[in-house]
Amino acid sequence: MEHNTVAPLPWMKSPVLPVATISDVAHAVPLARALSSGGISVIEVVLRTPCSLQAIERIRCEVPDITVGAGTLVTSRHVDEAVAAGAQFLVSPGATGSVCEALTASGLPALPGATTVSELMSLIDRGYEHAKLFPAESSGGVSHIRALGSVLPNMKLCPTGGIDQASAPSYLIEPNVMCVGGSWLIPDRAVREGRWDQVSRLAAQATAFGE
Ligand code: 3PG
Repeated sequence: MEHNTVAPLPWMKSPVLPVATISDVAHAVPLARALSSGGISVIEVVLRTPCSLQAIERIRCEVPDITVGAGTLVTSRHVDEAVAAGAQFLVSPGATGSVCEALTASGLPALPGATTVSELMSLIDRGYEHAKLFPAESSGGVSHIRALGSVLPNMKLCPTGGIDQASAPSYLIEPNVMCVGGSWLIPDRAVREGRWDQVSRLAAQATAFGE
C-alpha cells in the first residue's frame, strides 16, 4: 500500500476551493489577491493554459497569503512540472497508476479524482482518505455523493464540476463533503476586465458558507 501524505490539507482552508484557468499571466497575482481579500486563502490553478506554470510561480512568490495548488494534472509529467513551479498541493480529475505514483513521490498534499465507488476504493487501497469527486453535477450531484457516503463514509470528498453559488450549500451539508471546488467565483469576464472587486465579493460569499 502506498502511503499518502494528507496533512496539512490546503483544500480545507475554505469551504470553496477556487478553480482558476489563467490565460494571461498578468492576471495571476491580482486574482490571488482578490480571492484573499474576500477571505479565501487557497487557489487551484489548472494546467490547461500555456502560462499556468508561470502563474503558479508568480502566486507562490508574490502572494504569501494564498496557498497555491496545481490542478488538471493528467500525466506524471504534469505532476513534476507543477512541483517544479512551486505548487503547494496537487489535484487531478482522475487517478491513473502513474499519476498516483507521481503524487505520492512528490510528498505534497494531493487530491486525486474519482467518480465511482470502485475508483474511490482504489484510492482507499492506495492510502487516500480524500478525493476530488469529478464531475460532480453530471455524475449525479448531491444524490450521488450521498450514495457514495452510505458505503464509503470515511472517504472525504471535494465535489467539483458544475457547482455554483446556488448549489454549493446543498453539497456542503453532506457529511462526506469536506469542501467544494468551482470556477464560478472567477468569472472570465470579470478577470478580462480587471474587475477584481467582483471576484472579492464572490469569494466573500463563498467564505460565508463556512460560517
Ligand atoms: C475542474 O477543473 O475542477 C473543473 O473544470 C471545475 O469545474 P467548474 O468550472 O464547472 O466549476
